[in-house]
Amino acid sequence: MVRLSLLAGAIPAAIVSVPIFSALLGPLLQRQKQEWRKVANLADIAVGETKLITYVNADPLPWAGVTAKSAAWLRRESENKLIAFSAHCSHLGCPVRWEDKAQLFMCPCHGGVYYKDGTVAAGPPPKPLTKIEVRVNKTDVEIRTAPVPITTTTQ
Ligand code: FES
Repeated sequence: MVRLSLLAGAIPAAIVSVPIFSALLGPLLQRQKQEWRKVANLADIAVGETKLITYVNADPLPWAGVTAKSAAWLRRESENKLIAFSAHCSHLGCPVRWEDKAQLFMCPCHGGVYYKDGTVAAGPPPKPLTKIEVRVNKTDVEIRTAPVPITTTTQ
């Protein structure tokens, strides 16, 4: 009877603990998953140009649909040097836009401003735009996709 009572208590406890452990460990497991993805042809980006690109996250959930897509800013500094930034402001995660004439990234939410290298120029952002690794693979531009931190509390 005691064993039966223990078993009757253990089964619901195990069922309840699965989502709790998944929620606790999920972000840690997600951060480890990274993948190189093609986002552009090198010939399609002129030197000095900054382009908005979209890509699928490294580890999308099967039911994510369009929410699996993320965006980044890709900038060609020279013939062989490209840099990419998360399109999310480092303050509270709003999408930043590129102002070509001013050569600045602007955040519409609270007035955050970033220089073209992603460093903070003005406003409340506590740190630069998150950089994303970029490489050129023959004629393809690839970025290393990973879950993108969109607020300062996740790091
Ligand atoms: S979210 Fe960009 S400045 Fe606040």
